[in-house]
Amino acid sequence: MSEYDRLRAERNQKMMLKDKVAVIYGAGGEIGGAVARAYAAERADLFLTGRTLASVEVVAKEILSAGGFAEAAEVDALDEQAVEKHLQSMIDKAGRVDISFNAVGIPDTKILGVPLVELDVEQFSLPIATYTTSYFLTARLAARRMIANRSGVIMRVTALHSRTGIPLVGGYGPAMAAMEALTRDLSAELAPHGIRVVGLRPQAMPETETIKEAFEPHAKASGMTWEEWQEMLASRTHSRRLMMLAEMANVAVFMASDQASGLTETTVNLAMGSLDD
Ligand SMILES: NC(=O)c1ccc[n+]([C@@H]2O[C@H](COP(=O)([O-])OP(=O)(O)OC[C@H]3O[C@@H](n4cnc5c(N)ncnc54)[C@H](OP(=O)(O)O)[C@@H]3O)[C@@H](O)[C@H]2O)c1
Repeated sequence: MSEYDRLRAERNQKMMLKDKVAVIYGAGGEIGGAVARAYAAERADLFLTGRTLASVEVVAKEILSAGGFAEAAEVDALDEQAVEKHLQSMIDKAGRVDISFNAVGIPDTKILGVPLVELDVEQFSLPIATYTTSYFLTARLAARRMIANRSGVIMRVTALHSRTGIPLVGGYGPAMAAMEALTRDLSAELAPHGIRVVGLRPQAMPETETIKEAFEPHAKASGMTWEEWQEMLASRTHSRRLMMLAEMANVAVFMASDQASGLTETTVNLAMGSLDD
């Protein structure tokens, strides 16, 4: 082995997710994509999925060209058979699943902006049913594989709405709260089998289109520019700034790694002081 290869092997030894096999749902999105890139940088093998193949392929190609391993697949995370089939193909290829990360997000325009008193039942129920069903399905199907290995980490991203009252968000807050409850219940049942179940709850990350789309109308309605609105949100944090995607993804790496072996049942608060637990 050359000196270069020896040093490379030594560096790789230190990678936090070396030899881990991860599946990400909603990997073509802002959070799913950022987490995928961060996992790949720590040497995880990635099976990236999403409802629209093209956006997942963009992330996979980026990882491959940086020397990582990533495979893209079109998988509707609400379709049990599709999730099952994909997981099986992943097991056939990689032998196991160590990390399951659900970053699925439904377009906010469908669910935000209507006062509760005017909201119809269908629109109210949509985020609750969609978010909880997709998290339940992906977690349950991964857990069945992980139980056999007595090892694994299941993760989901939520938002501050799970813990605080925010107007004009319809069923989004109840959906986020329900997923955090599901994280706790999954952990209670799965931790005895060696599986950790954790969540992370970032505040709005303004670099993401999702947040711009969701908040720009609120900013306009309050007579503020989008920049003033961001400043207002930032002023509520202890750091007087909003979190960046890469910072959130670094936390996701730690939580998925063996360094976090003591962490289960919890949803990590990434509100930078703007919301107490
Ligand atoms: N962005 C933030 O700052 C922030 C902060 C806190 C919490 N969150 C929450 O975190 C989640 C992800 O946010 P994001 O900013 O990453 O949103 P995003 O960019 O819109 O990504 C969501 C991804 O989920 C995919 N998806 C939707 N339905 C799916 C399904 N049935 N099966 C598979 N994939 C599906 C979407 O695919 P399509 O494009 O094909 O629909 C999209 O690629 C959301 O719940 C969001 O509310 C976001």
